[in-house]
Amino acid sequence: MQTPLKLVRVWDLPVRVFHWSLVLLVLCSWVSAENGLLRVHLWSGLALLTLLVFRIIWGFVGSSTARFSQFVRSPRQALEYLRATKRGEGQLHAGHNPAGGWMVLALLTVLSLQAMTGLFSNDGIRFFGPLAARISAALSDRLTTLHGTIFNVILTFVWLHIVAVLYYRYVRAENLVAPMINGSKPDAMLPAGPPPKLVAVRWALLCLVFAVLLVWWILKP
Ligand code: HEM
Ligand code: HEM
Repeated sequence: MQTPLKLVRVWDLPVRVFHWSLVLLVLCSWVSAENGLLRVHLWSGLALLTLLVFRIIWGFVGSSTARFSQFVRSPRQALEYLRATKRGEGQLHAGHNPAGGWMVLALLTVLSLQAMTGLFSNDGIRFFGPLAARISAALSDRLTTLHGTIFNVILTFVWLHIVAVLYYRYVRAENLVAPMINGSKPDAMLPAGPPPKLVAVRWALLCLVFAVLLVWWILKP
């Protein structure tokens, strides 16, 4: 008889909702910019900015697997992890592995830069980001160019991210996507020791309210 699979919750609901909302908002921002729908672009960009502020706060006060202190390791540790993986020595991690942690930081950084430069951008005709009037027209133009350039970096990082997820799925037979949807990993895929400590969703809602207020305060005339 087979022993039933024991599932352990590793990702809290806020991180999962954050992740899939991020995917939708990046797509929405891209499609709206390409089609000149700049009101939609503005709102999806602001929603993304708010979520990023939320995620940064959650990275300090949220569940153990969401915390930067848990998944940001030194570059040396990340390289050691990659070398061990190449040798086929599997290491188990409840949350992001040491190399994945750097990918997450890189994605959060470029997305934040994208949303911030968007605030100062203009379309050269009649649309101005909410903070564009606070700087010179020349600087706004330069930041608009930068906004376009950073998006290409985002696309590159997102491809790398998806290739890494597929590598785990098909080469290492580790399904990382299902846990990002349902929150749980089988016990056998976790390191020995206590399970991750998850923080209640109401605290995430409080952080989200704080993020909304902060963005509103930055943008208020
Ligand atoms: C616009 C596209 C995407 C962006 C910007 C993005 C960004 C991110 C970020 C920031 C994280 C860290 C989550 C956190 O700790 O809060 C993450 C994790 C993750 N993403 Fe994505 N993602 C994208 C698309 C996808 C897609 C299409 C998939 C599925 C094929 C995917 C699967 C995952 C998985 C499985 C993790 C957890 C990895 C782990 O276990 O360490 N992502 N992503
Ligand atoms: C924070 C709010 C944002 C504002 C106010 C904003 C504003 C703008 C403006 C004014 C343009 C120039 C449009 C044109 O030349 O016709 C633009 C272009 C663009 N934005 Fe944003 N943006 C924001 C956030 C974002 C985000 C979060 C993303 C993606 C993650 C994004 C992706 C793009 C892309 C792909 C373009 C087209 C670039 C090009 O054609 O070179 N924007 N944005």
